[in-house]
Amino acid sequence: MHVFLCALALILSVVAANANWYFPPPPPPEEFGNLLIDRTSTKNKVRPVAFSHWSHRRKYTCQVCHSELDFAFKVNGSEVTEAENQAGKYCGACHDGKIAFGHDKANCEKCHNGDRGYGKEKFPELASLPHSRSGNRVDWARALEEKTIAPARFLKLKPPPGIAYEKTLMLEAEWERVPPAIFPHKTHTAWLACSNCHPEIFNIRKKTTKHFEMKMNLAGEFCGVCHMTVAFPMSDCRACHPAMKEWP
Ligand code: HEC
Ligand code: HEC
Ligand code: HEC
Ligand code: HEC
Ligand code: HEC
Ligand code: HEC
Repeated sequence: MHVFLCALALILSVVAANANWYFPPPPPPEEFGNLLIDRTSTKNKVRPVAFSHWSHRRKYTCQVCHSELDFAFKVNGSEVTEAENQAGKYCGACHDGKIAFGHDKANCEKCHNGDRGYGKEKFPELASLPHSRSGNRVDWARALEEKTIAPARFLKLKPPPGIAYEKTLMLEAEWERVPPAIFPHKTHTAWLACSNCHPEIFNIRKKTTKHFEMKMNLAGEFCGVCHMTVAFPMSDCRACHPAMKEWP
């Protein structure tokens, strides 16, 4: 009886939590991780800039853009200008007419088109990658591990040989009987630099991030910095709580 009540209480509390957690309707797979950058475009009478993560992450790891090129983990968070691009910074580090199409008149609209779905005719190329049930419907972790894709780890600045850190952490939830969330360092450092997470997102020294609750993740903090926008979304419970069998 006691066990039954506990189980019931747990199911009810999680159902309640699910009811309270707001998941925005998922975008179609070919638009998951796509952005429209508009910090200055509209103000300067050009259309907002289309940028697709799935298209670029096939060829480059996150750290190329978010460490070497200094793009922020927040749309409109970087001070990109046409002058900086022309000088070879930000998008211009690759969009120089050699690595990718350049910043000449003929190409302005390939970026300034205001179309979040821009480039979607190339999406079917992803069908050959390992499949997943959410986000782009691509298991990016497997694709990299199995070398179906081989994204570059740097552009010009070869990072110094870092510390290989592969510890998998079990993050115990504050709530009783909620199975822990798993955090594998190895999967993450295949894409990201240590400094992408430490100390800004996760301060390990002060242990202030010991309890990062779901409501904070869902508000775009901690795991939610990436796992709402670019990496598989927070609605995929079992991807992080592998023992959470009874839920969708
Ligand atoms: C590879 C993508 C790309 C191409 C190609 C490109 N831009 Fe941009 N451009 C950007 C990005 C990103 C921003 C920053 C947008 C923002 O924050 O709103 C930007 C900003 C701008 C801005 C507003 C800020 C500023 O510096 O005045 C203007 C105007 C602009 N671009 C004009 C152009 C013109 C004209 C061309 C073609 C000659 C062009 N861009 C080609 C990506 C591109
Ligand atoms: C080719 C460059 C490039 C690559 C590779 C890349 N990003 Fe980004 N990312 C960007 C740009 C550009 C922005 C927008 C920044 C801005 O507007 O200031 C962005 C924004 C983001 C955001 C904020 C999204 C939002 O909705 O606010 C997150 C999170 C993010 N990237 C995570 C990642 C992760 C994780 C990876 C690797 C799987 C990755 N990025 C790979 C260029 C890149
Ligand atoms: C690390 C290199 C790199 C950076 C940085 C980069 N791109 Fe690209 N981008 C590429 C490559 C390579 C292609 C594919 C080759 C081509 O189409 O010429 C591409 C293609 C594109 C396309 C064509 C459609 C698609 O998604 O395939 C758009 C639009 C685009 N990039 C926008 C941007 C914008 C906007 C930025 C900056 C916010 C940016 N890119 C930064 C390498 C980069
Ligand atoms: C995607 C984000 C991310 C990246 C990238 C990352 N870490 Fe972590 N790291 C975490 C999280 C989350 C924790 C747990 C934080 C907590 O419990 O407060 C953690 C904890 C740690 C800890 C403490 C482990 C323990 O047993 O308490 C160390 C040490 C550490 N990371 C080192 C590294 C190093 C070295 C790298 C680069 C090789 C790295 N991390 C890359 C997210 C990351
Ligand atoms: C800076 C970005 C970032 C942050 C922050 C982050 N992740 Fe990830 N995570 C990724 C990327 C990129 C992948 C590769 C898969 C994908 O893109 O969907 C990934 C994959 C995973 C995987 C799948 C591992 C596998 O082998 O399939 C798990 C589990 C995971 N993350 C858990 C977490 C947890 C828990 C947190 C918070 C404590 C967290 N992540 C924070 C970017 C991030
Ligand atoms: C990207 C990884 C990730 C995904 C996806 C995820 N969680 Fe969590 N979850 C966490 C982390 C990390 C914690 C907190 C662990 C801690 O306190 O240190 C957590 C904690 C919890 C808790 C404990 C209460 C709280 O708010 O801390 C519940 C309940 C929970 N998750 C349910 C879910 C459900 C239901 C889903 C699917 C709708 C889900 N989680 C998806 C990472 C994730």
